Amino acid sequence: MVDEDRRAQAAVVFDALGLSYEQAFADSAPHRASLRWLVERLAPGSRVLDVGSGTGRPTAQTLAEAGHRVLGIDISPVMVDLAVRQVPGAEFRLADIRKTALPEASFDAAVAYFSLLQMSRAEQAAVVAKLARAVRPGGFVALATVPLDLEDTEGLFMGQPVRVTSFGAEAFTELVSGAGLKVLAEEQTVFTPRGPEAGPEPQLFLHCVREAG
Ligand SMILES: C[S@@+](CC[C@H](N)C(=O)[O-])C[C@H]1O[C@@H](n2cnc3c(N)ncnc32)[C@H](O)[C@@H]1O
Repeated sequence: MVDEDRRAQAAVVFDALGLSYEQAFADSAPHRASLRWLVERLAPGSRVLDVGSGTGRPTAQTLAEAGHRVLGIDISPVMVDLAVRQVPGAEFRLADIRKTALPEASFDAAVAYFSLLQMSRAEQAAVVAKLARAVRPGGFVALATVPLDLEDTEGLFMGQPVRVTSFGAEAFTELVSGAGLKVLAEEQTVFTPRGPEAGPEPQLFLHCVREAG
């Protein structure tokens, strides 16, 4: 599949899901624990990038309510509209992270929760490296993925046809370390979304710091 189709596909899937994604996933205890991990470490007024910000809840909302300056970017116009309405304390932009230039060391932290899965493996590696450079040395990066060895695999997600690419847990952790991030904490879990539309899925959360130098 060519890059442009992949881009269009992520936007189409999440335009169709909109708030039903939030209803199924926003109560996730491991996601909320990951946000607590970050909030406990951020100085007041930190600048945080939220990649694939979805509806803005829980990520941007939690970080903005904790007093941080949040920029969310998402490829889905429907998701960006929802986030703008639901989280007025954060800023949101319609953009494809793969094509978005991020100035070096311009954020105190960056997060990407489950937003890499519609990218090729090379693109995922490039985005993780981009996030590692976009946070200042000593800044934090939190990543979450579905740790399965899949490459452009067809499936159904909440009733939507999707093509998913991911890495097993070990390979994803290696990719993250290779980008200059030190993994400080890791959580592997199986999460069951709320409602009948999505089944249990393995999840991997990595909490990292950009190493100095
Ligand atoms: C599974 S949802 C997760 C939303 C949110 N991070 C959360 O955990 O609640 C993935 C989000 O990433 C966005 N996304 C996918 N590919 C993207 C890309 N290349 N650039 C920006 N956003 C993207 C989707 O539109 C969607 O809103």
